[in-house]
Amino acid sequence: MTQKEYVFLDGEYIDAQTASIPVQTHAFLYGTSVFEGIRAYYNAEDDSMFIFRMKEHYERIARSAKIMCMEMKYSVDELCDITVELLKKNNYKTDAYIRPTIYKKGCTVCPGLYNNPDGIVIFTCALGDYIDLTKGLSVCVSSWRRVEDNAIPPRAKIAGSYANAALIVTDAKNAGFDDAIVLSENGHVTEGSAMNLFLVENGKLITTKTTDNILVGVTRNTIIEMAKEELGIETIERDIDRTELYIADEAFYCGTGAQVSPITKIDNRPIGNGKPGPIAKQIQKLYFDIVRGKIEKYKKWCTSVND
Ligand SMILES: Cc1ncc(COP(=O)(O)O)c(C=O)c1O
Repeated sequence: MTQKEYVFLDGEYIDAQTASIPVQTHAFLYGTSVFEGIRAYYNAEDDSMFIFRMKEHYERIARSAKIMCMEMKYSVDELCDITVELLKKNNYKTDAYIRPTIYKKGCTVCPGLYNNPDGIVIFTCALGDYIDLTKGLSVCVSSWRRVEDNAIPPRAKIAGSYANAALIVTDAKNAGFDDAIVLSENGHVTEGSAMNLFLVENGKLITTKTTDNILVGVTRNTIIEMAKEELGIETIERDIDRTELYIADEAFYCGTGAQVSPITKIDNRPIGNGKPGPIAKQIQKLYFDIVRGKIEKYKKWCTSVND
């Protein structure tokens, strides 16, 4: 028999099979919810599980909620405690994914955010690597443009803006690519469909500025910090032109979902020698040691589910 799974819905831990929201829910009608994707890593050797940078994710959901005029019913610390409790109840013996959502729960057909109560739901599921992290990705530059800060702000992780990501990734896959890099309306590089982008040039990391219509990734910030501290590699945050993509020494994606994924082809042009680059591989290894709680110095980012 499969184990019962719980979700946290508006203050209660309930059976995932019976958790439901009305079809008239504002968030369902208009995409008016903000969310996070958080990973928990399981170590079979000692039956331990660590949630990676959970606090930073909940701090970001609080910022997203503020932008969308939503009220946080729980503090960041309370959300962390609720999440640990939920994972304990769900008792995975594998890596897992945590998806908290704060949503407009009023049943109304007006798009406005006022006079509309906020709900919260957190669900979890077992999840391993969904991208092959060894072979290198072949991506294209999307013909779609990234949503802008003055349209649907990418800085906030708003469910409705993922219609943009859905179009981007669908057309990329239909054209035979693994994903697509997206340009902003002004023609600069932003990020992948749902992950941030790094290039390597002359031994330095280059990534998009936080004001270039990106979601400011927790993984991005992790990589900037650990590359400097552990590998002595600086990151330059600046505008990136499309053609810089083609001549980079290396390129890789990063994100909670994508983790650290080398890119080996962009628009069918090989990046570097067309194989995952040495710096991307070094960063990938370090990242996995950190998220699994194997490096003492970075255990501050890992919340144990077992204690
Ligand atoms: C659009 C977008 N950019 C970047 C990221 C990477 O963010 P993080 O590292 O916080 O998961 C994500 C992942 O959720 C995303 O959806």
